[in-house]
Amino acid sequence: MAFGSTFATESAYAQWKWRAWCQDVATGSRGATFVAVDHSGRFVGMVGAVSWEGTPIIMGMWTRPEWRNRGIGRKLLKRQLAWLDKYRRGRPVFLYVNPSQAGAERMYATMGFRFSGFEMPLGHDPPAVVRQMVRRPRSRLKPRRARGR
Ligand SMILES: CC(C)(COP(=O)(O)OP(=O)(O)OC[C@H]1O[C@@H](n2cnc3c(N)ncnc32)[C@H](O)[C@@H]1OP(=O)(O)O)[C@@H](O)C(=O)NCCC(=O)NCCS
Repeated sequence: MAFGSTFATESAYAQWKWRAWCQDVATGSRGATFVAVDHSGRFVGMVGAVSWEGTPIIMGMWTRPEWRNRGIGRKLLKRQLAWLDKYRRGRPVFLYVNPSQAGAERMYATMGFRFSGFEMPLGHDPPAVVRQMVRRPRSRLKPRRARGR
């Protein structure tokens, strides 16, 4: 798994802390979370983004196993990137992926993410690591045409 934490750690956090985090990434001030639900309103998938010292980081990308490979992950990520493009325009977007997650890696690569070369230990699961991927903003400047002489 890519997630850098464990259920034991997370479930020990106080309710107020969870509420503050949820509010933070749901209100759109520092980040946003998009979720997919089925026709009955059951949770199917999600993706979040937070701003870490001004730098957007994608996190919590997940689709319920029985709903995978139906385009939900890609749709969620596209929606998240559109939000970031609106509110964090011009900034590179980062994420962390575990090398064992070939499916996720492929999805990120097709959405413009590239490995930055930076990796770090996946804290709770040594010697596993997570690798950083970055999606750099496209230059909006058109190249100048050389003037004819
Ligand atoms: C990664 C994940 C979110 C993808 O969600 P999904 O709803 O299955 O994604 P999609 O159906 O939109 O597939 C998007 C792309 O992912 C890639 N992909 C998804 N599953 C794949 C698999 N098992 N093998 C290879 N590629 C795969 C494909 O490139 C696919 O592109 P395509 O539409 O051109 O075929 C989902 O597999 C998941 O929750 N995995 C476990 C958690 C995880 O790894 N999260 C990422 C943490 S960094």
